[in-house]
Amino acid sequence: MVEILPSILSADFARLGEQVQLLETAGCHMLHVDVMDGHFVPNITIGPPVVASLRKATKLKLDVHLMIEDADRYAPAFVQAGADSVSVHQEACRHLDRTLTMIKSEGALAGVVLNPATPIATLDCVLELVDYVLIMSVNPGFGGQKFIRYTLNKVRALAEKRNQRRLNFTIEIDGGVTRENAAEIANAGVEWLVAGSSVFSGELDLGMSFTTLQREARSASMVKV
Ligand code: DX5
Ligand code: ZN
Repeated sequence: MVEILPSILSADFARLGEQVQLLETAGCHMLHVDVMDGHFVPNITIGPPVVASLRKATKLKLDVHLMIEDADRYAPAFVQAGADSVSVHQEACRHLDRTLTMIKSEGALAGVVLNPATPIATLDCVLELVDYVLIMSVNPGFGGQKFIRYTLNKVRALAEKRNQRRLNFTIEIDGGVTRENAAEIANAGVEWLVAGSSVFSGELDLGMSFTTLQREARSASMVKV
């Protein structure tokens, strides 16, 4: 089932619990949590205590996206805080196989992320190992950027590879998802669509923004079948 994952990067942090409740009521199943260290990306966000607070406040799945240099050091703390899935950047992990294996052994789903300019061929050796692949459709670091269209070609090629090799990993996309492009993205083969500003900063209320996006994305995948 295609899912919209609201990215709390665009939430009102003073009202985070309340906004998460609204999303839960609207039928949301997963939240996306962006962790930035000011080194791998030029921005700083949140750490494990916020994930632990969210874990107490909601039953939603928590998908943690680590945009940090030292994932080996910090990933276990996010799993212990309650993350259900943790993704790391291919570009930041010198020993990617080891890092992904460690995340799985900690008890979370393990994902690998590619920046827009990184080819999918760099993942050929780990596709058997990963639970999901996150294709960045903006350069990571900030919400509210414009969708980079050529990343859809990467999604299509990855979905094709998954078919050919009879693998089961989920394909996720992150950055610039709107109600105008959600259907096209789902049609390309994406099952998890992260959406920050189009959920939290749209002209509609929160629940309505979420359901509109979800309806768009799901209608497309139904047409595909
Ligand atoms: C960007 C983050 C995204 C961001 C998406 O580095 O990884 O998750 O929150 O925000 P939008 O949907 O506004 O592009
Ligand atoms: Zn993200």
